[in-house]
Amino acid sequence: MTNGTKSRADVDDNIVRELISRSQEAKEFAYCPYSKFRVGAALLTPDGTIFTGCNVENACYNLGMCAERVAISKAVSEGHRSFRAIAIASDLNEQVISPCGGCRQFMREFGTHWHVYMTKPDGSYLHMNVDELLPESFGPDDLKGRKV
Ligand code: THU
Repeated sequence: MTNGTKSRADVDDNIVRELISRSQEAKEFAYCPYSKFRVGAALLTPDGTIFTGCNVENACYNLGMCAERVAISKAVSEGHRSFRAIAIASDLNEQVISPCGGCRQFMREFGTHWHVYMTKPDGSYLHMNVDELLPESFGPDDLKGRKV
């Protein structure tokens, strides 16, 4: 692992399993009458709290929300701004669920060195960190020192 993609301490395998299981449970609540594409997410904070989310679509299509952003927004709205990991689940059997570009940017707002577990329904996963998913990203520090 290079310096640029250095992750925080690895997440214990039992906790990864728990996150994946919680993301699969959250997927059951997906509200996706338009896409019929269910997604669940489970987000881990440093104190061990897990926040879950599912996608929430809308008849005005562009208002739909991704599962990852729902989970992150739930956590932020309860005072959490530091995250260790997120697991994402869908019904795709042949490939892991990969977060959209908007969700990568949303994750990046809260740090580049935390873990993303992109899973399949059988529990297998691809593990990357936020920086690997969104390299050379724009973030809060880039706004510092700007002329207004
Ligand atoms: N979706 C997510 O919730 N997360 C992802 O990582 C990919 C896509 C949702 C958005 C929409 O409700 C449906 O999946 C189809 O794009």
